[in-house]
Amino acid sequence: MKHSDLNLYKENGDKIACLTAYDASMAKLIDKCGVDAILIGDSLGMVVKGHKNTRSVTMQDMLYHTEIVANSCQQALVIADMPFMSYESSELALKNAQKLVNVGADMVKIEGGQEHEEVFRVFSSNNIKVCGHLGLQPQMVSNSSEYKIQGKDERSAGKILSDALLLETLGVSAIVLECVPSALAKKVSSKLVIPTIGIGAGKHCDGQVLVIYDMLGITQGKLPRFVRNFVATEGMIPLAISAFVKEVKAGTFPSTSESY
Ligand code: KIV
Repeated sequence: MKHSDLNLYKENGDKIACLTAYDASMAKLIDKCGVDAILIGDSLGMVVKGHKNTRSVTMQDMLYHTEIVANSCQQALVIADMPFMSYESSELALKNAQKLVNVGADMVKIEGGQEHEEVFRVFSSNNIKVCGHLGLQPQMVSNSSEYKIQGKDERSAGKILSDALLLETLGVSAIVLECVPSALAKKVSSKLVIPTIGIGAGKHCDGQVLVIYDMLGITQGKLPRFVRNFVATEGMIPLAISAFVKEVKAGTFPSTSESY
């Protein structure tokens, strides 16, 4: 059953498990495994399109992947990222959010705080469920050296907290906190009624989100320290690919029973 009311998780002390997905096979598998929410993240700019940042992601990309994922999952709440430049004005934001809802998103996500106050208000008055995203905002980042922990000093920590409190009053359903000190995430989470979903924000958040390819050890290159490769011990995916290559080269795949 879909819990579109994320507050219930927090009220019940039940942590929210969220993973990204971009395609039908992965969405079905994640959904079947009991993940509470699936995010069609604009991380697809990097992990699907192979670009350096999220800025190349278009509304067309998001509609395409959101529709696929939404059609593939029955249990999990479907959250769709609104891409760079798709919520520059409240009119544009509403139009684009409605398109994402029309293809199956239960909720949209936008990055930033007080600067988007009007957008959050318009969403609330039009019944568009929205998740905020504070701390590191990948749409502000153009190269990997800018991926830095946020909210380390008093001023920036204060801004994250005040933005979080403002978003709650504006009717936001949950807030992703990315790359902030654990102590700050704990403070923000304790001050809010709505849940926080952390990525690189420590264990005190009300839920956790990871990019699926990162946690399966598929993403190549240096990954942030908050990523845990959940198949690292067995290295199942690289082992399977290497076994395939080995058996093809040895002529042992396919066998007679695997042939017609
Ligand atoms: O784009 C994304 O995948 C995200 C994350 C929170 C992982 O925004």
